[in-house]
Amino acid sequence: MIMNKTNVKPADGKLGVLVVGLGAVSSTFMTGVLMARKGLAKPVGSMTQYDKIRVGKGADKKYLKYEDIVPMAKLDDIVFGAWDVYPANAYQSAMYAEVLQEKDINPVKDELEAIKPMKAAFDHNYAKRLNGDNIMTDKTRWEMVEQLREDIRNFKKENNLDRVVVLWAASTEVYVPVDEKTHGTLEALEAAMKADDKEHIAPSMCYAYAALKEGAPFIMGAPNTTVDIPAMWELSEQTGMPIAGKDFKTGQTLVKSGFAPIIGTRCLGLNGWFSTNILGNRDGLVLDEPANFRTKEVSKLSTLESILVPEEQPDLYNANCGGAEEGGHQGYYHKVRINYYPPRNDSKEGWDNIDIFGWMGYPMQIKINFLCRDSILAAPLCLDLVLLSDLAARAGRSGIQRFLSFFLKSPMHDYTKGEVPVNHLFQQYTMLKNAIREMGGYEADEEID
Ligand SMILES: NC(=O)c1ccc[n+]([C@@H]2O[C@H](COP(=O)([O-])OP(=O)(O)OC[C@H]3O[C@@H](n4cnc5c(N)ncnc54)[C@H](O)[C@@H]3O)[C@@H](O)[C@H]2O)c1
Repeated sequence: MIMNKTNVKPADGKLGVLVVGLGAVSSTFMTGVLMARKGLAKPVGSMTQYDKIRVGKGADKKYLKYEDIVPMAKLDDIVFGAWDVYPANAYQSAMYAEVLQEKDINPVKDELEAIKPMKAAFDHNYAKRLNGDNIMTDKTRWEMVEQLREDIRNFKKENNLDRVVVLWAASTEVYVPVDEKTHGTLEALEAAMKADDKEHIAPSMCYAYAALKEGAPFIMGAPNTTVDIPAMWELSEQTGMPIAGKDFKTGQTLVKSGFAPIIGTRCLGLNGWFSTNILGNRDGLVLDEPANFRTKEVSKLSTLESILVPEEQPDLYNANCGGAEEGGHQGYYHKVRINYYPPRNDSKEGWDNIDIFGWMGYPMQIKINFLCRDSILAAPLCLDLVLLSDLAARAGRSGIQRFLSFFLKSPMHDYTKGEVPVNHLFQQYTMLKNAIREMGGYEADEEID
């Protein structure tokens, strides 16, 4: 039931969800959606399934679910597909990941078994710890793009789909710094792909390029540079497609972006924030490789610096604690570590030690110990990012979707114009609510609920 005038196209027909990487996160996401639509599990943690947004003010205000404000695709309309380096189908992958118990997988075994990964566009140099053979062989970057485009078209045709969204939930690639010459314009990017420039064109860029060209929104769930370059912004505008990234905001960074505002709002000081994790799944294995961890580190570090800004409050956040000597900023010391520890598998444990100070500079400490489940936290984000990107596409919104920053550790922003990303969880939530309101034909506002 749509309550107001909206210009968003209806969510008619089937929505294809093509996931790059059929590992722990994707198989947990897929299993949960299939179980939920059979009424056998609840999609807990998903904003699109549970959250209610206030629309209108004063006596006219009401709290509505997203589907009552804007036309949303239904879980029943989703058709899954995937690419992966390993040939395991979604059932085998879910069993291997050991995130979910067999009793929570078996009721949808047949549907999961039918999700067989297509051959991956992969380059061993981008994830040295992976050795699967379900990969495209002897293909240049441009040939990878062409094959992926064909895969998307075939998937759409074979499943009689109305629309497709492509979601990267594959391993973190090695860090690819933005290279103005290659990544600065679409023309340069295409030339580099055609010249098979393996150094500057990560396989993930081939997926993103292929998706956008085929009229599918692209979401980057890992911290990879991929769509966070001007060339991809240009392509997404040209094709009228939404893009979002980077890096699902699940455990420690979710806590950080929700907790740092407590320190900031109360004008307490910060000397240092040390975050460390142990993690034993395949993601942890890939991140054990320093070049892959570097990509993650850059993403995880960015959260705090835009919430507690040393230049804005020198008395509170500009105590020189040695961060600058390590390449960080002049101010509090911020460190993030991820340690591969196989016994814990997907059950990540994160510790945060926060050294704060109060009245007259007296020091205090806060300790946070989060015993979480990585993929259980990431699965609802996959669902929300997919459904909201599809919504954005139907609403005619192209380019970077800032309203999706809420779900991401390292929100995309136009750094060429000095734009600062919004990392503050509650500001991000306001952006999310206002985008939904506007797409539903209501007025944006900043009232407190
Ligand atoms: N779970 C979380 O809380 C969380 C949070 C933020 C980001 N992430 C990111 O999500 C991603 C997935 O995490 P996961 O735990 O499912 O990892 P995983 O290792 O279980 O699964 C990743 C899969 O991607 C495949 N893959 C790698 N490169 C590929 C390519 N080029 N094409 C196709 N497939 C490819 C691998 O073979 C693997 O099966 C990781 O990048 C991780 O950093 C996860």
